[in-house]
Amino acid sequence: MTVEKITANPVLQQLPPDLLRERLPRHVAVIMDGNGRWAKQRGLPRIMGHRRGTDTLKDILRCCKDWGIPALTAYAFSTENWGRPLEEVDFLMTLFERVVRRELREMMEEDVQIRFVGDLDALPKSLHLEIDRAMQQTSQNKSIQFTVATNYGGRQEILHACREIAAKVQQGLLNPEDIDESLFEHHLSTAGICDPDLMIRTSGEMRISNFLLWQVAYAELYVTDTLWPDFDRTEMHRALAAYQQRERRFGKV
Ligand code: IPE
Ligand code: IPE
Ligand code: MG
Repeated sequence: MTVEKITANPVLQQLPPDLLRERLPRHVAVIMDGNGRWAKQRGLPRIMGHRRGTDTLKDILRCCKDWGIPALTAYAFSTENWGRPLEEVDFLMTLFERVVRRELREMMEEDVQIRFVGDLDALPKSLHLEIDRAMQQTSQNKSIQFTVATNYGGRQEILHACREIAAKVQQGLLNPEDIDESLFEHHLSTAGICDPDLMIRTSGEMRISNFLLWQVAYAELYVTDTLWPDFDRTEMHRALAAYQQRERRFGKV
């Protein structure tokens, strides 16, 4: 079935039949960009785009679960996003807190395991508490591994891992020659989650913006001009169809 025919089906509850289940990505990462532009196009304040963006995320999470993608990671706030106007940052922190509190029950019902990565200590205390509670309560859930990158920076994550490893060497717990990719990955905040197979960025920007720098080494990149609040199951279908067309060589021939 073509993408156009699928579009005629408004629900897309199940994996579209043209996608091969055995070739689905095991982990999709999304840079949810374009909320501000979406709002601007409608003459609304930027924050309305962020609010709408959370609805999109909720549906894309459910879509991944419905279609059998076992891990989704979403970039919600970068270490550089503190540089935005205070009002917008405050709105986002309050929004995150409200959404985590509001959605916890449903995440339990739907068996979603949520995890937050990034420098969580620097977040407002009340948000940090909600995050801890959600991570703890959902830790045994199995149907999908949902990771939210909040106050996350790929470079900071790598530096943090280096510091931890250096301290272990200094204490005599590790030899420098023990440091390999596997050991390094164990010191990243994403330890235990496989690397993303597919990284999606909405709103057309062709950059990584400090997201999962180590982990995307061999991810397939997919960029769409669609703004994040408009990214829906039809768009997800397009991204997955494009992914399934790719030949992943991993440096081989
Ligand atoms: C992404 O949308 C959300 C966050 C970075 C928090 P933007 O707010 O970056 O939207 P644009 O890029 O300005 O349109
Ligand atoms: C990346 O979007 C960060 C998130 C989506 C949270 P930005 O809008 O912050 O990225 P730049 O500034 O366009 O690189
Ligand atoms: Mg942006």
